[in-house]
Parts: sequence; C-alpha cells; structure tokens
Amino acid sequence: MSEQPNRRVQVDLSGQTALVTGASRGIGKAIALALGAAGAKVGCIARSADKLAETVEEITSAGGAAEAFPCDVTDESAVTALFEKVIEEWGQLDIMVNNAGITKDGLLPRMTADDWDAVISTNLRSVFLFTKAASQAMMRTRRGRIINISSVSGLMGNPGQANYSASKAGVVGFTRTVAKELASKRRPITVNAICPGFIASDMTETLGEALQEAIKQNVPLQRLGAAEEVADGVLYLASESGAYVNGHVLTIDGGMTA
Ligand SMILES: NC(=O)c1ccc[n+]([C@@H]2O[C@H](COP(=O)([O-])OP(=O)(O)OC[C@H]3O[C@@H](n4cnc5c(N)ncnc54)[C@H](O)[C@@H]3O)[C@@H](O)[C@H]2O)c1
Repeated sequence: MSEQPNRRVQVDLSGQTALVTGASRGIGKAIALALGAAGAKVGCIARSADKLAETVEEITSAGGAAEAFPCDVTDESAVTALFEKVIEEWGQLDIMVNNAGITKDGLLPRMTADDWDAVISTNLRSVFLFTKAASQAMMRTRRGRIINISSVSGLMGNPGQANYSASKAGVVGFTRTVAKELASKRRPITVNAICPGFIASDMTETLGEALQEAIKQNVPLQRLGAAEEVADGVLYLASESGAYVNGHVLTIDGGMTA
C-alpha cells in the first residue's frame, strides 16, 4: 500500500459521460471510480466482461452510474461498434480517458518484433483509434476532454523498455499535435497527457520487492504513487478548473523527472 495522503479532489461532473479504457483494474479502475464518484456516467472498457462487471458494481453501489463495454482496444472495428453503441445509448461523450496499456520488457537484442508490435498497438494505436472516434463525437457537441495516460518512460529512457518508451513518447507527441488540431474558441476540446511515475499496481507488482525498493530511492518523495493520485490528475483535467489546460503533459511521479 502507498502512503498517499487521505484526500480527494472535489469535482462535479454530473450530467457528463466518460469512457475509460483499461478500467478493469489498476490506474484505469481508480480513474473510473473517481469519475463515477464525481457524478459522470462512466463507460468501462477492457477485454474481460467479468472484471469490468466488478468496476461497474463498485461505481453503482457507491451511487454512481456505469456500464461495461468489453472491447479489445487495438481492434478498429470493435472500437467503431463501441462508439456507435455509446452514442446511440448516451447521445454524447464528454470525457475520453485512454489508459489501457501493457509492457513486454526486454533488452533490445532479445526484444522480438511481436513484443514491439503488441506494445505499440495496445499503447499507441489504441490511443489513435479512441481519440479519433471520441473527437468525432465531441465535434458534434462542440466540447470535450481527452486525457491520455502516458508514462515517465515516454519522457526519459528506461533500459529494457524500448517498445514501451517508444509507445509512451508517441502518446506525448500525438497528444500535443491533436491538442492543436482539435481546439478552437467555438469548440473547446482539450487533449492532455498524464505521465505517471511508479504507481503501485499489478504492473509494478511484477517488478519484485528488491527492484521496488531501488525505484523508491530514485523518487524524491521516496515512495510509489497511488492509482488514486493519477485519478486526481484526471479529475482536474476533466473539470471546469482545467478548461484552459491544453496540450499539457502532467507528470505525477513524486519528482522523478524533475
Ligand atoms: N503502474 C505504473 O507504475 C504506471 C506508470 C506509468 C504509466 N502507467 C500506465 O498507466 C496505464 C495503466 O497501468 P496499470 O498499472 O493500471 O496497468 P494494469 O496492467 O494494472 O491495467 C491495464 C489495463 O489495460 C487493459 N488492457 C490491456 N490491453 C488491453 C486491450 N488490448 N484491450 C482492452 N483493454 C486492455 C487491462 O485489461 C487492464 O484493465 C497504462 O497505460 C500504463 O502504461 C502505469
């Protein structure tokens, strides 16, 4: 468990709809719960319907509204079908959070092309597919917030993560360009990225205790972050307070990249 302070950013998103990819666990689940608690109707996306049902149950039992949309985020036709369903049922999309991601680590000589393709496809292609579809829905209502979860590995090198670093740096470049393409006074759609540092989750659990301790020594705050602390960043960017923030890359990393 992380020693983050016990707090929650207070944001009112009632009447708004949100989609979160990778919402079955970890950071994505924390983001979905936070958006639901703030009053948004949350569409929870991952491949496993069973796991998504748990996220939906947690949101609804806390008094929020949520629905599961099982989908492989790399599958273009599945993404198209998902958006048709969302727009038919909800009529609008206000907030898109692109969070689904995987790692397939290995030093370059041992990294296979399949490992490369899988990581680029899940972490970068999916952000393109969902941002394109979400922006089309947002153009119709002339407003929207798109928040892409990148990583500190997209800002600085990390041996063993050439594929992951490339995908996350790609998300940063994509975010900055699309932020300039989509924004206008008449149609205030913003696009921002969050770069978490080391966050306690299933992904970091696989690193083992010794490596986790070594990582903490490289973080000025000397602890792992909590998924809820990333979710708080999403709440801010989705809120009215974040209306003038566009094309920004927000690190939530305990000072690691400072
Ligand atoms: N945990 C960290 O320390 C950390 C640090 C920086 C960035 N991130 C990023 O944050 C995001 C979430 O990380 P996490 O630690 O919660 O990971 P996680 O492995 O716990 O969860 C990943 C989620 O993505 C979903 N997913 C993966 N591939 C998918 C696919 N093809 N289709 C649909 N859903 C798919 C999984 O089902 C799961 O819900 C990722 O993009 C990750 O790169 C994590």
